[in-house]
Amino acid sequence: MEQVPTVFFLLSTLLITVSVESLPPPLFPDEALPTKSGYLPIKPAPGSSMFYAFYEAQKPTSPLPDTPLLVWLQGGPGCSSMIGNFFELGPWRVTSRATATELERNPGAWNRLFGLLFLDNPIGVGFSIAASDEDIPRNQRQVAQHLYLALLEFLDQNPGFENRPVYLTGESYAGKYVPAIGYYILREKPNGKVKLKGLAIGNGLTDPVTQIQTHSVNLYYSGLVNAKQKNELDKAQERTVALVKSQKWREAAHARYDLLALMGNMTGLAALYNTARSIPYRRDLVVGLLNKREAKRVLGVSETARFEECSDHVEELLREDIMKSTKFMVDYAVERTSVLLYQGMLDLQEGVVSTEGWMKTMKWSGLEMFLSAERRVWKDSEGVVAGYVQRWGNLSHVAVSGAGHLVPTDKAVNSRDMIEAWVLGRGLFGGGEDVKETASSGFTKSS
Ligand SMILES: *[C@@H]1O[C@H](CO)[C@@H](O)[C@H](O)[C@H]1NC(C)=O
Ligand SMILES: *[C@@H]1O[C@H](CO)[C@@H](O)[C@H](O)[C@H]1NC(C)=O
Repeated sequence: MEQVPTVFFLLSTLLITVSVESLPPPLFPDEALPTKSGYLPIKPAPGSSMFYAFYEAQKPTSPLPDTPLLVWLQGGPGCSSMIGNFFELGPWRVTSRATATELERNPGAWNRLFGLLFLDNPIGVGFSIAASDEDIPRNQRQVAQHLYLALLEFLDQNPGFENRPVYLTGESYAGKYVPAIGYYILREKPNGKVKLKGLAIGNGLTDPVTQIQTHSVNLYYSGLVNAKQKNELDKAQERTVALVKSQKWREAAHARYDLLALMGNMTGLAALYNTARSIPYRRDLVVGLLNKREAKRVLGVSETARFEECSDHVEELLREDIMKSTKFMVDYAVERTSVLLYQGMLDLQEGVVSTEGWMKTMKWSGLEMFLSAERRVWKDSEGVVAGYVQRWGNLSHVAVSGAGHLVPTDKAVNSRDMIEAWVLGRGLFGGGEDVKETASSGFTKSS
C-alpha cells in the first residue's frame, strides 16, 4: 500500500523531468533577438570580416532615417563588444540564476531612443574573423581604417540609414579606438558617408603616460596605500614613463601591467575596476552564454566558432600600441564635433582623476573656458546624486557616482539617461541656463 504514492511520486517526477527536458525555455526570448546580426566584410583583407549585432531603437522619437545610431566598441585591447552588449548596455543582459544562465531585460538599455550597433573590433576579436595574422591591425590607423570600412558596409546593407547621425562610443581601451576612428573620419572623410556627430568615451585609456602617473596620488589620497607604498608606486610609474621616453613600447606596456598588478597587490581589492565590488565583474557569464549552440544560431555565427571574452593574440599584436597616446586626435575632434568623456568614480584604473589628468593638457582653443566652467550636480529622477557634469562648447565631462569601470553595468538607467541627454543636448547638456528640464529622461538639472 505504502509503495503506491512513492511510485506515483517517482513517475510524476520523471514526467516533469522529461517535459522540462523536451521543452527548455528559449535562451533568447523573441524580444531579445538582435534586429540584425552577422558579418561586415573588410574587403581589402579578403576573408576577414567584422561581426556585428544591431538593435533598432525601441521607442524612437524621430523617423528612423533621422534617428541617431550609437556604435559601441569594447576595450582590451582584444575584448569583444558582446561584453558591452550582454553585460552592460544592450537591451538584454546575462544573469546567473541558481539553475542556469538567463537573459533579462536591461532597464537602462541604450537603444531606447537610438539604434545601437555593437562591433567586434578589431578583426580577430570575439566573433570577428581575421583571415590571416597579417590582416590584424597593429596600430590605431589600421584599426580606424577597418572600422570605417565596416561602417560603410553596414550603411550599404541598410538602405534608409544613410543620413542617420552617428555617435561613436566605447570604453576602456576604446579610449584609443574612438578617437582614432573619429579622427580618421573628420580628417580624411569629412564629406563621406558616415554622418559623424559625436564621440563618447567611458573610463578610457587615451593618453597613457599622463594617466598612469595619477595612480599613486589617487590611491594615496583615497586612503588605499600609505606613504611608503605611494613611493613604490611612484617608482613603478617612473619606470614605465622612462621606457616610453626611450620608445621601448613593448617593455613600457609590460611595466604598466606590473604597475597595475602592484596596485592590486597593495590594495588587495577584488578588482581595480570597482573599489566597491567584493568579486570581479562576472563577464565570464557572457562567455558561457555565447558558447551555447542556440546563441550562435540566433546571432548567425558558425557553430564551430569559439567565443572568448578577450583575445590574447590580438592584445599581443597591439602591445606596441598600448602606451601610445591618441590625445591629439581628441584635440582635433573637439574642434569639430561633440566629445563626451565619462567615468565611473569607483574605478582605480581609468577613473576620474586619470582622465582629468590629460584633459587639462588638451590643446584646444576652448580648454580654458572648459576648465573654468561650473561643475554641476546631476540628480536622478528620485533626487539622488547620480554624478557631476561639466560642459563647455563641444566638450562634456561626467563623473558617475556609484559606478566603476563598467558604468552601464553598475548604473544602467543613469548611464542611459546620460547618453540620451548628451546626444539630444538636453538637461545638463543643454544650451543655456534656461533649458527646460526633461522629466522623462530623469537627467534633470539640480537647483
Ligand atoms: C603580487 O603578488 C603575487 C602573489 O603574492 C606575486 O606573485 C606577484 O609577483 C606580485 N606582483 C607584484 C607586481 O608585486
Ligand atoms: C564644435 O563642433 C561644431 C560641430 O558640431 C563645430 O562647428 C564648432 O566649430 C566646434 N566648436 C568649437 C569651439 O570648437
